[in-house]
Amino acid sequence: MEKEQTPAEPDFELEAKDNSRRNFLKQSALITAVALTPAAAVKAADKHVDERIAEAFEKMPLKMEVNGVTHSLSVEPRATLLDILREQLDLTGTKKGCDYGQCGACTVHVDGHRVNACLTLGIMVNNKKVTTIEGLAKGEQLHPMQEAFLKHDGFQCGYCTPGQIMSAVACVREGHANSELEIREYMSGNICRCGAYPNIVNAIQEVKEGGQAV
Ligand code: FES
Ligand code: FES
Repeated sequence: MEKEQTPAEPDFELEAKDNSRRNFLKQSALITAVALTPAAAVKAADKHVDERIAEAFEKMPLKMEVNGVTHSLSVEPRATLLDILREQLDLTGTKKGCDYGQCGACTVHVDGHRVNACLTLGIMVNNKKVTTIEGLAKGEQLHPMQEAFLKHDGFQCGYCTPGQIMSAVACVREGHANSELEIREYMSGNICRCGAYPNIVNAIQEVKEGGQAV
């Protein structure tokens, strides 16, 4: 015959211990908070943290040449080159895609080298030369890479195109356009959501093989 099971008796002793432990932890946390707050505040005041935070938002002078024109600006130290180009200089050809260095839409040249403008602070390009997509053509005469993108339909919606073209020019200049594979590798930082990759590669190959100055 099966033995009837009786519900387990509550362990009052264990519960009491648990409660007192919980209370102890709560009280310790409270005491720690009370004890730490004034000290932390005093320490922050000692180190002039508020002044330092304010300083970080103060403007700094920035001189840079963009597409052959020298600009003397006043920028926040945290301002990115991308935001300065788009918002202060109205050069909106350079696109903001991810703003995290992952799509390449913001590619520009700084002293001839391609960079992601969203990852470059404005103050880092002080006294440097910046070229954006607006500075590639010579008046009415398009840059050979722009011509090739048009000829090969290297774009659909066009959002990634300024970054693609700036990267493509750098890719040829760097000597990294010797094969389809190499072009794909060195253009891999530029994402195209429309998937125009084959046409972009064709455009770059044509410019490279044409031997034109880029
Ligand atoms: Fe700069 Fe995407 S916006 S990499
Ligand atoms: Fe549309 Fe590249 S052409 S994202």
